[in-house]
Amino acid sequence: MTKRNILITGGAGFIGSHVVRLFVNKYPSYLIVNLDKLTYAGNLENLKDVENKSNYHFAKGDILDVEFLYEVFKKHDIDGVIHLAAESHVDRSLHNPVEFASTNIIGTLNLLSAAQASWHSNYQGKVFYHISTDEVYGSAEHGIFFTEQTPIDPRSPYSASKASSDHFVNAYNNSYGLPTLISRCSNNYGPYHFPEKLIPLMINNILNSKSLPVYGKGENVRDWLFVEDHARAIDAIFHGGTSGQVYNIGGNNEWRNIDLVNFLCHTMDHKLGREEGTSARLITYVKDRPGHDLRYAIDASKLISETGWRPQVSFEVGLEMTVEWYLANQEWLRHVTSGEYLQYYAKMYQSS
Ligand code: NAD
Ligand code: TYD
Repeated sequence: MTKRNILITGGAGFIGSHVVRLFVNKYPSYLIVNLDKLTYAGNLENLKDVENKSNYHFAKGDILDVEFLYEVFKKHDIDGVIHLAAESHVDRSLHNPVEFASTNIIGTLNLLSAAQASWHSNYQGKVFYHISTDEVYGSAEHGIFFTEQTPIDPRSPYSASKASSDHFVNAYNNSYGLPTLISRCSNNYGPYHFPEKLIPLMINNILNSKSLPVYGKGENVRDWLFVEDHARAIDAIFHGGTSGQVYNIGGNNEWRNIDLVNFLCHTMDHKLGREEGTSARLITYVKDRPGHDLRYAIDASKLISETGWRPQVSFEVGLEMTVEWYLANQEWLRHVTSGEYLQYYAKMYQSS
């Protein structure tokens, strides 16, 4: 197998940790350098099982620190980048859009410029892969699916910052010939998901018999994909994607929030040996998120036809595995929900 030195940014976060784990285990001849600032969302506990592997290296640092990025490229002779580091939560972006612009746009630009400068326009065997989101397409009408041709129409500070970073990636491809890939995935769920996002927040609250805050009427629709399926898609695109192209990734698995929360309540009542209906009684409708996108729905046929990737984990199986993981890892949950999380929760859910 060829030797490659791959920089994965944001590898201590939710999706990044699954990508790091997959690459470290599947490609022993690669060096995987995980660059992460370890914000509230980054946690080295997510990578305990790979931290001592000889083909894994952790570099703590900030994608806003250009000098540091240049050093990392040089020191490890990086020839591939998989860029996941970002501020990722829509609700936080509504409170602090500048931080999102800074990390997601300027951070990506720094990384692009470090790759360009370090590779000296010798792009043979190089690739810069940017992990984006389906949210850049905006909200999908009933019956419509986002394709790679769907015009960009971001509607939250988070999605606006991600869309902007996508444009810079395309600009580096077009203007400087940098070999780039972009993928846009739907909502992920699974182990190590920070409990500010819908599914882990509800699991945590059900465990603690706290109210379950459903925004608005709970009618918003999301297309859910098990995180390991996303990691496998990233592997397929990194190794088989065509430079300059965008690939949509999705599970073809749409759920209204309220139906998903009810299904989760049912699953957890069963797992916890609680009477059916106990958890659903905790559901509380709260003030809607401002500008809340109604529906995301992905058409992943390009990825499927070009690489053969398909989701391997059904939602029923994936959700059950996820619940079991959280029940078995309550220590992890306790660690990440102490300190700053408590202040965040108090601020965001004042009225619930
Ligand atoms: P996350 O918030 O769990 O992790 C983000 C990681 O980036 C953390 O480890 C954090 O410490 C790190 N980070 C943040 N700012 C940094 C900085 N300035 N320098 C270095 N590291 C920094 O996010 P996630 O859910 O794992 O998402 C990863 C990527 O996938 C993001 O780019 C996101 O936009 C994209 N994405 C997420 C989803 C989803 O459902 N979660 C869906 C599609 C795309
Ligand atoms: P989230 O997990 O934040 O992902 P995104 O906004 O990126 O899709 O939210 C998923 C859906 O769940 C979204 O429609 C907002 C809704 N939601 C709630 O109803 N209550 C909550 O407490 C949270 C965090 C989200």
